[in-house]
Amino acid sequence: MRNFTLKVINPILLLLVLFQVATAVLRGSLYEFFHTWHPIGGSLLVLLGLIHLALNWNWVKGSYSGKAKTHK
Ligand code: HEM
Repeated sequence: MRNFTLKVINPILLLLVLFQVATAVLRGSLYEFFHTWHPIGGSLLVLLGLIHLALNWNWVKGSYSGKAKTHK
């Protein structure tokens, strides 16, 4: 279930990052669209980012615990 959720969330995260950048770059010509959708995309990005972090929490702990055999 965890892997499946990550397989769904990760590509969406990538698309949301690209959406944030694209709407920011084009904000001059898409003024209304930017003000409506950039904050919504950003909020979704934060939410999915936190879920992504939670689902990878064991990896995060392992990387910072000092017990990992690699990544000193
Ligand atoms: C965590 C993700 C993000 C959140 C929550 C977020 C949120 C926001 C919000 C609420 C605004 C104000 C919108 C408005 O005036 O109606 C804003 C503005 C802006 N954001 Fe984002 N954003 C995010 C990511 C990004 C990214 C990845 C970029 C570009 C690489 C970006 C570039 C900008 C720019 C250029 C503005 C306009 C600033 C201005 O004109 O004063 N944002 N953002």
